[in-house]
This record gives sequence, structure tokens and C-alpha cells, in this order.
Amino acid sequence: MAVIAVTKERRDGETRVATTPDTVKKLIAAGFAVAVETGAGEASSYPDADYAAAGAELCGLDAALAKADILFKVRGPTPEEIAGLKAEAIVVGMLNPHQDKTTLQALAAKGVSAFSMEFVPRITRAQVMDVLSSQANLAGYRAVLEGANAYGKVLPMMMTAAGTVAAAKVFVMGAGVAGLQAIATARRLGAVVTATDVRPAAKEQVESLGAKFIAVEDEEFKAAETAAGYAKEMSAEYQAKQAALVSEHIRKQDIVITTALIPGRPAPRLVSATQVASMRPGSVIVDLAVEQGGNVEGAVAGQVVETGGVKIVGYANLPGRIAADASALYARNLAAFGGLFLTKDGAFAPDFEDEILKAALVTRGGAVVHPALAS
Ligand SMILES: NC(=O)c1ccc[n+]([C@@H]2O[C@H](COP(=O)([O-])OP(=O)(O)OC[C@H]3O[C@@H](n4cnc5c(N)ncnc54)[C@H](O)[C@@H]3O)[C@@H](O)[C@H]2O)c1
Repeated sequence: MAVIAVTKERRDGETRVATTPDTVKKLIAAGFAVAVETGAGEASSYPDADYAAAGAELCGLDAALAKADILFKVRGPTPEEIAGLKAEAIVVGMLNPHQDKTTLQALAAKGVSAFSMEFVPRITRAQVMDVLSSQANLAGYRAVLEGANAYGKVLPMMMTAAGTVAAAKVFVMGAGVAGLQAIATARRLGAVVTATDVRPAAKEQVESLGAKFIAVEDEEFKAAETAAGYAKEMSAEYQAKQAALVSEHIRKQDIVITTALIPGRPAPRLVSATQVASMRPGSVIVDLAVEQGGNVEGAVAGQVVETGGVKIVGYANLPGRIAADASALYARNLAAFGGLFLTKDGAFAPDFEDEILKAALVTRGGAVVHPALAS
């Protein structure tokens, strides 16, 4: 029986875990054995006893790695973890392959087959494995709560005996998975919400959530969506038009949430220092793209920066701030992905020609094999 090992996350204060007691049961029912490192779920409120009750074997780090036919991780494994693996092991996690070349090379050097969940294609069959969506959705929700928390006023309009308080104005930049959830969350809190994106498809989605769509809707905008549904990097001319529109709008906003990303590229710069300076003191900006270089000039990963009375919230890993639910959804994504390593009869025999496995495979046979990482 193939063993799935889950170890504690050791990078950057990561609080999530790659499997929960609930998914341990599912993996065992599918035909795997599961080894969990003692304390792996502690930071996300899943105690060892619950893993044991679900049927997992609790063990130390070295034993878990030595047993692993498949290692499930949230982030890329550390050099020590890679060293402890069997050369024929499989590693699955959010390996951040465009940025973390060191881990990629170490995985290749070890000879393991590593799969990066960020590369799972967005096809119908793989929706249940879509970690970008499951985590971005939670990040969008949490970003609004962080923004509201840093904001010294309320979000809904309040009519009280002592007078009326106006509703806050929230502007969401980038209306993908995270942005749409941010819009929905800000609306639930009673804010007046506007949003922008460069993809025309976003307009209807924004409006269906009760927010107003604001964008430069020129010919380039009409063609800004790739076949895969992502945004293209926009021309300097478009960016200048977008900046003018944003300048006019942003100075009237109370909370700005930025979520714009372009796969494999640095995050587009959407808010300049001048635009930040144009906002009223007490306003808040939450930059969700801060780990990919940031949408906002002056945002610092892991920090809240205050400039001219405007707070720029740059917390890294927002899903990690709601670790129990983020882990639960991520674990279900991974359990579904793990199912691809089994044949219809439940035998452990990964088919490396499977469309999803092929798209997510980053190292195999001692080399980095993903075409997007060729250089
Ligand atoms: N299974 C599926 O079919 C599936 C699953 C999830 C998402 N999607 C789709 O994929 C698309 C991308 O979603 P995502 O959240 O992963 O995107 P993402 O995280 O790559 O980017 C976030 C958003 O930023 C926007 N953006 C990029 N550059 C911008 C700029 N200069 N100005 C303003 N906005 C900018 C993008 O258009 C996107 O909406 C969406 O159409 C989404 O509905 C499909």
C-alpha cells in the first residue's frame, strides 16, 4: 500500500497543513496509508489525536519522510526534508516554481517526481484540485477583514440617535477569484463597492455582485484575456490610461484591495506613491499581490506601512491567517490530486501521461521538466 506522508510546514511561519483528519479518512478509503508527523496540524488547530483517530500513523519527521511514497506539502519541502526522501518518491505542494528555483533544483537533484499545484490546469475535471482558487477565495475574504480592521471607521451606513455614519467606499483592483470574494465580503459588510479589471469577462461578474465596474474599455481591453482565461500584460499606453482613471477614482476611496496578478510575471504596478498620497488620512490599502512584487508602490511583504496617514497592509500569506479552513480546502484539493496516482482498481501506478499530472509535473528523473521553467 502506498504511503502518503504529511510533515509539519517549516517555511516562513506557514500555519497551514497539507492534510486534515477528515481527508486522512478519504485517503485511507481510497487505498493509501497515511503517515503524519507529530504536531503537523497544531498551527491550524488539528490535534494529533484527531489524525490518529482518523487512521493516520503519527511519527517523527525522519520516519515520515523515509516511509513516503508521496509527500504532501503546503509549501516546498526544506533541504532537510528533501534529503530524507527516497529517490523514487513523489512530492506534491505549492512549490512556487517561478520564484523558488533553489527548491526546484534540489528536488530535481534528488531525482524525485515533483508536482506543483499552481500548474494544475483550469479544466473542469481539475476544478476540485484548484488550489489557486481555494486559497485565493479565502485570501480575498480575509483581505477585507484586514482592511476593515486597520480602518478607523465602520463599513456600513449607520443611522443612530447620535447621527448618521456614511458607508465606507471600497475599491477592488483585479476581479479574479480573490477580488470577487473581496467584493462579496465588502458588500456583506455594507460598503459601497467599485472594482476594476483588464478582462472584459470580469465586468459582468463584478456587476452581478452588486458592485460598479470601472475600467478603460478600449480595443486592448477587449482582447486582454488569454485562451486560458488569464490577463495579458498590458501595453504602456493602456497602463497610462488606466493610471489616469485610477488617479481620479482612488483619492475618494476609503479602503482599496489590490489582487492583480499575471501568471509567471511580476505583479502589475497599479497604485503609485502619488496615488497613495492623494488618499485621505485614515484610508487603508491591502496589497494581496505583495509576495509577487506588489501592486502598490511602497507595500512591504509582511508589514503594515503608514505613509501620510494611509496604511498599506502587506501581510504575506493571508490564507495562513485562517489556517483551519485554508488547510481543510487545500487538503481536499490535494486528496483529489492524490487520486490521480491510483488506477481505477485502486493500485498505486501514476500515469505520467494523464493531462493533469503532465501539466503539474515540474521535476522527474533528475531534471526540471516543465516547459514553462525551461530557462
Ligand atoms: N476552473 C476554472 O475554469 C477556473 C477556476 C478559477 C478561475 N478561473 C478564471 O481564471 C481567471 C483568472 O482568475 P485568477 O483569480 O486566478 O486570476 P489571477 O490571480 O491570475 O489574477 C487576479 C486578477 O487580476 C487581474 N489583472 C491582471 N492584471 C491587471 C491589471 N493590470 N489591472 C487590473 N486587473 C488586472 C486579472 O485579470 C485577474 O482577474 C478568471 O477568469 C477566473 O474566473 C477559472
